[in-house]
Amino acid sequence: MKVISVVGARPNFMKVAPLHRVLQRSDVFEPLIVHTGQHYDERMSDIFFRQLEMPEPDIYLGVGSGTHAQQTARVMIAFEEVVQQERPDLVIVVGDVNSTVACSLVAAKCHVPVAHVEAGLRSFDRTMPEEINRIVTDSLSDLLFVTEQSGLDNLKREGVPDEKVHFVGNVMIDALVQFREKAARTTIMDDLGLAPRGYVLMTMHRPANVDNAAGLSAVLETIERISPEWPVVFPIHPRTRARFEQFDLAERLAAVEHLTLTPPLGYLEFLRLMEQAAVVVTDSGGIQEETTYLQVPCLTLRDSTERPVTVELGTNELLPLDPVRIHERVRAARAARRNGAQVPPLWDGHAAERIVEVLARQVVSV
Ligand code: UD1
Repeated sequence: MKVISVVGARPNFMKVAPLHRVLQRSDVFEPLIVHTGQHYDERMSDIFFRQLEMPEPDIYLGVGSGTHAQQTARVMIAFEEVVQQERPDLVIVVGDVNSTVACSLVAAKCHVPVAHVEAGLRSFDRTMPEEINRIVTDSLSDLLFVTEQSGLDNLKREGVPDEKVHFVGNVMIDALVQFREKAARTTIMDDLGLAPRGYVLMTMHRPANVDNAAGLSAVLETIERISPEWPVVFPIHPRTRARFEQFDLAERLAAVEHLTLTPPLGYLEFLRLMEQAAVVVTDSGGIQEETTYLQVPCLTLRDSTERPVTVELGTNELLPLDPVRIHERVRAARAARRNGAQVPPLWDGHAAERIVEVLARQVVSV
């Protein structure tokens, strides 16, 4: 059974790495990795392949950046050729990025079954491009692999037949479990002069927070308020860096004391920084889950989350982009660290194995 796993953007690599490893171990599957090139540079892409011990992609599409339509269309045109040439038996897509939706559309139209890993998540906010990608991908998928109860509930409500849906846990946690020790051996804490639990780790890249001057100023004011009390470490996403320049806020950012700005970090270094942080402040999807597993308090600067289990069971709290409020909650979160948080069901490092078991059963039943 020839299986193409698609990766495109940074949050895809740590999901496909564990899956590909388990697929490779089985003699039933011939697994291929197709990299769309949505993220294309060393720090957003290549370093993850090395650190996650993934083989080079079998096929690289090199689509690069662009508007949503341009990026999605370029992936579709290039991926259609791949599907025609390779004739896969299954296409696996993960997460909610433009490459995910583009490749599921192509596969579905070429009558190739689609498996979506991380299906069923909904923020119910269609102004987020990822929400559109999730809805379309799920509606085209033949196999839907779910990470948390809300995913099961959402798919049921949307009328997806039960037999397509499999609650398997979280492949991103598989990668975390596998690489946690290796991350502990990195020198990033010493390199940045950080003490365990002695700093706030920040990431910020959602269009709603950084693509307008008011939002980005509020992000900056948040850092200015927190950093006199606790050092802030802020690995800057390329989108966010560009916006600081565009809105003339780069100099003010550079002038903040007790702020360590870094380029986007490798998987291992970032994992280590998350694990050792006092509090994480973010607008990322995946970081809400990783901090929940690590039981590190996480403040997510968004109105909604597609990952409600991280709030219900985990360490995550949603907050508006209000610098005074965020500063208060950073103080409170530091004090409340690890109180009562739980790791969600099946986030145990074995999700990829469960997925591959389901896939193997499909092969037998064909
Ligand atoms: C994408 C995903 C988002 C995910 C994020 C993680 C979609 C709709 N969005 O958003 O869900 O959380 O990735 O990073 O798919 N750039 C570089 N180097 C690269 C890649 C991009 O400098 O290797 C620059 C681009 O030129 C662009 C900006 O970063 O200006 C944004 O890249 P893009 O892929 O369009 O979206 P992200 O904001 O990264």
